[in-house]
Amino acid sequence: MKIVFATQEQFDPAEWIDPLAARLADVEVMMWRDDGPAVGADIAVVFNPPAALFERERGLRAVFNLGAGVDALFGLPALPAGLPIVRLEDAGMAAKMAEYALHAVVSASRRFDGYASLQREGRWRQLPEIDRSAWPVGILGMGVMGSRVAKTFAALDYPVSGWSRSGKGPDGIVMHAGAAALPDFLARTRVLVNTLPLTDETQDILCRDTLGRLLPDAYLVNVGRGPHLVEEDLLALLDEGRMAGATLDVFRTEPLPADHPFWRHPRVTVTPHVAAISSRRETIAQVAEKIRSFMRGEPLTGVVARDRGY
Ligand code: NAP
Ligand code: GLV
Repeated sequence: MKIVFATQEQFDPAEWIDPLAARLADVEVMMWRDDGPAVGADIAVVFNPPAALFERERGLRAVFNLGAGVDALFGLPALPAGLPIVRLEDAGMAAKMAEYALHAVVSASRRFDGYASLQREGRWRQLPEIDRSAWPVGILGMGVMGSRVAKTFAALDYPVSGWSRSGKGPDGIVMHAGAAALPDFLARTRVLVNTLPLTDETQDILCRDTLGRLLPDAYLVNVGRGPHLVEEDLLALLDEGRMAGATLDVFRTEPLPADHPFWRHPRVTVTPHVAAISSRRETIAQVAEKIRSFMRGEPLTGVVARDRGY
């Protein structure tokens, strides 16, 4: 059995290939080389893989993605139609996603941003108290990430609701299912946290029509993917005073271009796609376990449904 480890980013072989190989008996793990020949790989372990992977390695039986989102894979024209794709599930990401969203919301809802300004001015002043009922949180996507975000806010007594295709969500969270329920969901939401995967159906979902339906003084936290957001629509709603702020981790173009208005907008917080980076140790352990199950012909979790795109 041969595994090719194919990424466009720098992954240190000592940190990735060696520990993965150590967990898999009778398997050869090789780093992808742009200038190399086909190695006859059975399995590809990938993160944002080079387009040539699927042109060159014609005998692949499965691909294991080192991230939750698989949109970059679907963008590769040579991806074989029937090739099973297995994605990463949690591996330390969900708690970080919840922390990120909580930090974004609490900075505003508890007025920590305001207290930071007051401290800079050396002023001792108590701002009006928080009323959680004025900060209903709505979460788009209630899978591994969204469910953890929802449970975190609910544990702090924020009103929380969720939206997913099926309407499945954690116990105690008010759920809304499918496109028909989206307007109602938005109309009760002040803080919108996007944890959707990027698919044909979800691209551009954060636009003037949807964001404009949120409660007054709305906030957006986008931790899904950049192409979910129509960036000019968000800027217009912020500048018109229809929305109060946004915390954005993902962008249509990454890295975010130096002249992009988000960098300097007073009510936009930018982070460089770091909301939820998986734990390397948990990622390697999970991928190795999934590869072992695949080799034994056992059922796997995290298999991407090609028709749904996630
Ligand atoms: P997941 O477990 O597959 O959950 C996806 C959720 O989205 C499910 O609840 C699904 O509904 C819902 N959904 C998908 N398409 C929909 C549609 N058309 N309408 C309504 N709901 C829809 O995925 P995950 O592990 O939570 O990850 C979600 C995404 O987070 C990833 O794809 C990635 O883009 C992003 N992410 C970002 C970072 C970061 O650092 N910024 C890190 C990790 C992940 P059902 O439950 O009904 O299927
Ligand atoms: C990161 O963005 C992921 O999809 O895992």
